[in-house]
This record gives sequence, C-alpha cells and structure tokens, in this order.
Amino acid sequence: MEISKNYRMEKLEKIFEGAQDFLPLLGTDYVELYIGNAKQAAHYYKTAFGFQSLAYSGLETGVKDKASYVLKQDKIRLVLTTPLTSDSVINQHIVKHGDGVKIIALWVDDATQSFEETTKRGAKPFMQPTIEKDEFGEVVRSGIYTYGETVHIFVERKNYNGIFLPGYQAWKSTYNPGSVGLKYIDHMVGNVGWNEMNIWVKWYEDVMGFVNFLSFDDKQIHTEYSALMSKVMSNGNGRIKFPINEPAEGEKKSQIEEYLDFYESQGVQHIAVATDDIISTITQMLKNGVEFLSAPPHTYYEDIPNRLGAHFQEMKEDISILEKLGILIDADEDGYLLQIFTKPVQDRPTLFFEIIQRMGAKGFGAGNFKALFESIEREQAKRGTL
Ligand code: FE2
Repeated sequence: MEISKNYRMEKLEKIFEGAQDFLPLLGTDYVELYIGNAKQAAHYYKTAFGFQSLAYSGLETGVKDKASYVLKQDKIRLVLTTPLTSDSVINQHIVKHGDGVKIIALWVDDATQSFEETTKRGAKPFMQPTIEKDEFGEVVRSGIYTYGETVHIFVERKNYNGIFLPGYQAWKSTYNPGSVGLKYIDHMVGNVGWNEMNIWVKWYEDVMGFVNFLSFDDKQIHTEYSALMSKVMSNGNGRIKFPINEPAEGEKKSQIEEYLDFYESQGVQHIAVATDDIISTITQMLKNGVEFLSAPPHTYYEDIPNRLGAHFQEMKEDISILEKLGILIDADEDGYLLQIFTKPVQDRPTLFFEIIQRMGAKGFGAGNFKALFESIEREQAKRGTL
C-alpha cells in the first residue's frame, strides 16, 4: 500500500519558531535503564554495541541500595542500574516492567528553573531540585514524570568537571572493546495506550514547550494486519525529538499493543542512535552478535531507485551490501536516510534500538514503515503475539 509523504517537513523551521523557550535544552545528558543484572548487561552493551566503561557507583563507592554502570560511546551515555534489595522501588519497577528505560535525562543550564517551569505547567514532580557535590564540583538535578513510570531528569552540570555525577568513580576495566561508530541519540520513541497519543502530544506542547512537526495516521502506518499512529514532538532547537506512538485498530494485534502488554504500561519503545557509516557499524554489530530484524524481500531493494527519486543520484552505498545487511533506505525532500532496527534487547518484547544514518533527510523513514512492520510481524508470529 501507499505511504503518503505529505508530511509537514517544509514548514519545519517555521514550526520550530513556534516552540517556546521556557525550557532550553542543550541535548540528551544520559539514558538510565533499570535492569535485573546491570553487571552482566554492561558486558553485553560493551561487547555487542561497542560501549566503553566510564563510571560506576555501588557498594564499593558507599552506595548501599543500588549499583550503576555508566557506559559511553561518543556523545551517548547509558546508565544501567540494579537494585540491591528486594524492597527497593527500582526492584518494583523491574518486577512490573522487566528491563527498560526509566530516565531520559536532559542537559540544561538551570535544573531548578526547568523544574519550576514544567511543574507550574502541570508536570508531576519526580525529584525536587537537588544539589549533589564532590571534589569535582556540583551538579543540580531535578525530575518530572512523563508517560507511564518514565521520567525526565534535568541535569545542570556547568559547575562540574568530574567523570559523570557526584558519587560515581571512574570505572577502569581490563576489557575495552572498540566503538562501533555510534555517535549520539537521534530520537527516543514512547509507546502510549489507546487514544492517549494526543494527550501526550498536548503534554509535551504545554509542559515542555515542544512542537508537533510530523504526524502519521493509521492510514499511513499499517500493513495487512496491524496499524499504529505516531506524532513526532521536537524541542525548539531540534536537538530533542520524541515520537509518540499509539496502537490503532487492525485485523491482528498491533506491535504497540504487544509492547504495552509486556511492559505492562506505557514506556520507551526504542532508542535511535546515529552513525556516520551504517555499513561498517552494522557489519561490526552483526559480528558482535546483535540481532536485527530480517531484511525485506528483494523487490524492496529493486525498487530503491524508484522510491528515492532525485536523491538516488546522491546515494553512495552499494544496494547489494545494504540488502545483505538488511539496512532500510528512505528519502524525503531534504535527502535520504539509512536505518535498521534490532530485535528487542531483553526477553520481554519491549525495548529495542534503531541505528540511523542521515544523509540530509530529517524524517523517520515513513517509506520503510510497511517493510519494517511486516518484519516485526514475522517476529510477533513466532512469539504467538500477533
Ligand atoms: Fe525511530
């Protein structure tokens, strides 16, 4: 079926102008996952995804109730946290949701002001502005709830030059696999429940001053079997992008419903990370044992010149290599993009990663949705959850 590309890209700059600046965001600071066994998960993210050991906090650093491993690759920081006692709230989170993203931390100039501006617009507080200090200076953090039990923490670190946050020490390891070329977080997607997408779109507009710059309805995002709707929210400088998905009626169960069933709540569906060279990144990740969704049929690759139109001339990649690796390609008015999706990274079919290389395109691969979702449905069928 046809996927319409009449989205509002041409108005992008204009739309960004409409974003409000009461919450200036400098970028993503870190993403924290609550994990059953952070020590082993950290090894996986190093081996498979090419992250490097950065910092640690736990019993050895005087923290009694949890252990956290901080991993870094270029601008991306992942924090993996495990509770040490059964009565920990972190444990309750894991019992309910399994492993998943708890915190999307945003880098700000003023965490106190960020807290005040968002809570006065209706955000539910998670963490009052709190000053943390050590010999390297001080960090101010505050936090608010977003969808489900997910939270945004505002991090003000202009008076800090330590390794990560006060309380963490450098994590020196004898095991230091190389980067696979992941550079920064491009976007992070939230799955919300039936009829809730517009509620959260409005929440990001009202509470955080974001704007909705792309929308896909269920006529655009569906296959023979299932459907979803999505709206992309962006802050004013375009550094932070949060697409919000909700399930839509289809003949069979939407992948969003499958997520909601297994996460037992709304939550982060995927983390998209950017690379400058997707062919070398994916070649290495496959070698490292990362599992990706299967490639679309050969006809998808035969059709690339057609689908890319004028941007086909700009393409530097060999289509046969893209096909061999299962990399998807799409174009919009501004250029093209290459992308691929991992299978879920834990046993519950919840969180997964996207690897994306933008060659001018500012979209999210709408032209790939059908191929992508058919691939997801093949996995759902194997799990008996379609
Ligand atoms: Fe994505």
